[in-house]
Amino acid sequence: MDFSKKIINWYKNNHRKLPWRKNKNPYYILVSEFMLQQTKVSQTIKYYSDFIQKFPNLEKLAQAEEKEVLKVWEGLGYYKRAINLHFFAKKLREKSIGFFPKKYKELIKYKGIGPYTGAAIASICFDEVVPAIDGNFYRLFSRYLGIYNNITSILTKKIFRTLILKMMDKKNPGIFNQAIMDLGATLCTPKKVKCFLCPIKIDCFSFKNGTIYELPVKNII
Ligand code: ADE
Repeated sequence: MDFSKKIINWYKNNHRKLPWRKNKNPYYILVSEFMLQQTKVSQTIKYYSDFIQKFPNLEKLAQAEEKEVLKVWEGLGYYKRAINLHFFAKKLREKSIGFFPKKYKELIKYKGIGPYTGAAIASICFDEVVPAIDGNFYRLFSRYLGIYNNITSILTKKIFRTLILKMMDKKNPGIFNQAIMDLGATLCTPKKVKCFLCPIKIDCFSFKNGTIYELPVKNII
């Protein structure tokens, strides 16, 4: 079985049951990804549910006053995220009803949607084959492939993007991205790794060589 098949199978049985994963509604994914930009999953859950209850869809969010949006965001921090999210909803209302940008390239034109958030939305909701690369990805792929390049360098980031794109599951890009997030968050963690539970350990460079904690390399010289 190849890498992506193992990853997808693992996800089916082991993924974290998170409230925004109940369906592929782009509004739900949008709200969760904005919250997750600077907030941990555990802290996001409560805020996410309150937010969706108060603003159940894009239209309701667009109609809201900024201060109401900020009120629900209170305590999460980085309030610019709430302002950008609200702005996005209002902007879409100016377009035709039901319009939601579906392409990565379109999504990243909006304030507050960077390459990570754009790729997460495009892949999870619209099955676009784009990797949502965060620290989990750099750690997992550094270890799996045995890459000792400094992950803070722009060139390394480009190399990773190309490699990951090739390894992605072309039929289930959203599941692939979320599976790497979950593997990175639960097994292939910075400390106390759980290699014994890992579905890809037999081909993992660092597992085979007993060098898990050497990677990733992030010298900032
Ligand atoms: N972190 C950022 N996006 C996430 C997602 N969709 N699921 C879990 N953790 C995340």
